[in-house]
Amino acid sequence: MGCMKTFVVGNWKMNLTVGESSLFLQKLQKKIKPAKNLEVVVAPSAIALQTLSLQLERNKSKIKLAAQNFHYRDYGAFTGEISVSQLHGIIKYAIVGHSERRHIFGETNREVKMKVAAAIRNNIRPIICIGETEGERASGETADVIRDQLLSSLSEIDVEDFKKVIIAYEPVWAISGGKSSRAAAPDEVIDVIRLIHTTLADTYGKEIEENIPVLYGGSVNADNAGAYLTMKGVNGLLIGGASLMSEPFCDIVETAKRVIA
Ligand code: PGA
Repeated sequence: MGCMKTFVVGNWKMNLTVGESSLFLQKLQKKIKPAKNLEVVVAPSAIALQTLSLQLERNKSKIKLAAQNFHYRDYGAFTGEISVSQLHGIIKYAIVGHSERRHIFGETNREVKMKVAAAIRNNIRPIICIGETEGERASGETADVIRDQLLSSLSEIDVEDFKKVIIAYEPVWAISGGKSSRAAAPDEVIDVIRLIHTTLADTYGKEIEENIPVLYGGSVNADNAGAYLTMKGVNGLLIGGASLMSEPFCDIVETAKRVIA
């Protein structure tokens, strides 16, 4: 698979004030030493992005920023929204279609693909989240849901832009905060990781598939990170809860370093 990077992405969701975000990032900057082929990314609230971007720049840090969400149009009469073009120069990545966006805010596959196209148009790498709900898994629809979300998310972009895309598989039932959420055992999700790779290879060819990182997310913590990172076809992690505390998050980064060493 060449020298694909491993990604450790922390999604802070709607937590921390701007001041708290800045202090927390400062802690991470001190503790996390850069490593070859490892990309550490954090996704704070939109309101903190600019402050944190200046902070990282000032300290010449290798940590990168991601947006948690954005509007798919570049500008216009969309009160309360932020466009990815407005975030240009501040972020390198943007999470798209997170399950909370899909299931709490009703974001559809159509919106997701428009956002993916907007990110690419603005030279931001989209981290496209896909995943089945507990009900979909129980009724045997997982493969259809995954294929559908995956292929539709990529349907508005040119093949040469596929190298900018990152996929994050997050089974909705494994994301903490859900009613009955629990961490998935690696052998419960390995088939889906494989399905994502084969779907990409069958649809777009092996060369493209080999260059698209596939991350795993859902109740990842310092204890189980290694098990997911060593799964075949997993190129990194998307972490919610455990990314809000420096110790587990830095432990996960260290685990990633060991796995790629
Ligand atoms: P979690 O969140 O690690 O708290 O389960 C993951 C996510 O929502 O991306």
